[in-house]
Amino acid sequence: MMRTHYCGQLNETLADQEITLCGWVHRRRDHGGVIFLDIRDREGLAQVVFDPDREETFALADSVRSEYVVRIRGKVRARPAGAVNPNMASGAIEVLGYELEVLNQAETPPFPLNEYSDVGEETRLRYRFIDLRRPEMAAKLKLRSQITSSIRRYLDENGFLDVETPILTRATPEGARDYLVPSRTHPGHFFALPQSPQLFKQLLMVSGFDRYYQIAKCFRDEDLRADRQPEFTQIDIETSFLDEADIMGLTEGMIRQLFKQVLDVDLGDFPHMTFEEAMRRYGSDKPDLRNPLELVDVADQLAGVEFKVFSGPANDPKGRVAALRVPGGASMPRKQIDDYTKFVGIYGAKGLAYIKVNERAKGLEGLQSPIVKFIPEENLEVILDRVGAVDGDLVFFGADKAKIVSEALGALRIKLGTDLELLTSEWAPLWVVDFPMFEENDDGSLSALHHPFTAPKCSPEELQAEPATALSRAYDMVLNGTELGGGSIRIHRKEMQQAVFNILGISAEEQQEKFGFLLDALKFGAPPHGGLAFGLDRLVMLVTGAQSIREVIAFPKTQSAACVMTQAPGLVDQKALRELNIRLREQAKVE
Ligand code: AMO
Ligand code: AMP
Repeated sequence: MMRTHYCGQLNETLADQEITLCGWVHRRRDHGGVIFLDIRDREGLAQVVFDPDREETFALADSVRSEYVVRIRGKVRARPAGAVNPNMASGAIEVLGYELEVLNQAETPPFPLNEYSDVGEETRLRYRFIDLRRPEMAAKLKLRSQITSSIRRYLDENGFLDVETPILTRATPEGARDYLVPSRTHPGHFFALPQSPQLFKQLLMVSGFDRYYQIAKCFRDEDLRADRQPEFTQIDIETSFLDEADIMGLTEGMIRQLFKQVLDVDLGDFPHMTFEEAMRRYGSDKPDLRNPLELVDVADQLAGVEFKVFSGPANDPKGRVAALRVPGGASMPRKQIDDYTKFVGIYGAKGLAYIKVNERAKGLEGLQSPIVKFIPEENLEVILDRVGAVDGDLVFFGADKAKIVSEALGALRIKLGTDLELLTSEWAPLWVVDFPMFEENDDGSLSALHHPFTAPKCSPEELQAEPATALSRAYDMVLNGTELGGGSIRIHRKEMQQAVFNILGISAEEQQEKFGFLLDALKFGAPPHGGLAFGLDRLVMLVTGAQSIREVIAFPKTQSAACVMTQAPGLVDQKALRELNIRLREQAKVE
């Protein structure tokens, strides 16, 4: 073995021992006749001192440059008093260098690693192999590895079996577009990369595996955001003969143990909240409970007003009128209110009415607002009481279709929470339960809210009678406003599965063509089963405090779903296309 110790592991207990290090030259300094090299490896830094006594080694140390790969033999010694560096794990000691070997040279890196520099993400991703040398990046990937170990240990101890499922497969509907792979042996036919292992894990339950898990790659061609990648990792779980309470209990225990082990944080018992309550109070099915602001419904007070902006939605069964109190917001400048009005516009809101509460005791006089003239004073009083407004507050209002109001005020609530630094705790986990089975599309048709294999809380007959209001046996785990994971009890009877497909408008032929194997499996003794999947990248992002999942993935894609380092996706030559029976359209060729 070339090395005896990692740099970051050296400490006082090794004083006077001879050791060998392998690593990269992080920094080189010349200090009045002695040369200091800070050597870096994945565990940290160590300072090595070369003095002129050993002439040849000294000359070599003088010649190395940043990012050269070196091997050094030397002796550990305590640093002189006053030279201890508390910011370095090995800061109490240094190494007196005896031998130095240059294992490889390096050109000047495209961005410095030994000082802070503002490098664009594109450059960092182009040279990701260098970016990952930075200690903060190495720390995140190390933590990711610790997290997967902790999770594997927990699941192994609870009797879960790790089973792999195919990557070349058929479409697995999770609501995104598929990545397709052309088949050479079946001209004109395509594999789809899995959006999740959903159907395979259900089939494993039919096979009797009882408790399955897999740390699985999933592929979804969808619009990317800070918490979405086209290729991401799930901690995928499925069980038989357990109900929702059992599954939530098991997986909550897994996350609680993980937080205790890696962060020494006790998350406590997770509260449960219905979807209906989450939407009503927070305008979101993944509420951030660190944020104290809440939406309050006020339609009943505004149904009779002449101001159509309010009375319209207040009288519409699909409408919503809600208020959001901002403590101390009365001092908010006009410009900021205008900015928030623009912000809610992103979510389709047509305006953002407000009332500044300067002095409630003065009645209308004490309020400042473009809308109070439209609202009778007794209704105003009820509204202000209901939201708990006190002098110095501001109250925002949203009025529109319920979906728009919830989304707009829900997003505004989050933004105000950050802008005004209102968050009251560090961690706020919860379960959201009692989701509707379906959501209505603009054309009146229904889509599955989770996926079409989720069991409803009612019988097939009841479901068919009133699909739009039926609730499902699905549950989501939410942490700090991020959906960490989601799952459900599945349909395990053929009749129920067909009923759901029918409601979704999938014809009998299409059911057979796309899901024949599933319907078959449900005929041959499928046990009651259910599970869930966590987004591993999101989990690591939250644990490390990263701002985006790209920061916790070794080689992520850019916002436009490309890899700037390998230049993927790339063109393929004519011969390969011919073998695949593919001819490109003229336009794709020039692009
Ligand atoms: P779902 O689609 O909710 O459920 O996905 C589960 C979890 O995966 C994460 N996730 C993502 N992470 C990064 N980038 C993406 N594009 C992305 N999409 C999803 C989220 C999410 O909570 N088969 C079902 C699970 C089940 O029913 O058991 C499924 O895939 O954290
Ligand atoms: P207007 O009558 O368009 O001048 O609007 C009066 C006030 O109502 C302004 O503060 C608007 O921002 C606000 N407003 C307009 N439409 C809506 C809406 N759909 N929801 C909430 N506030 C609105």
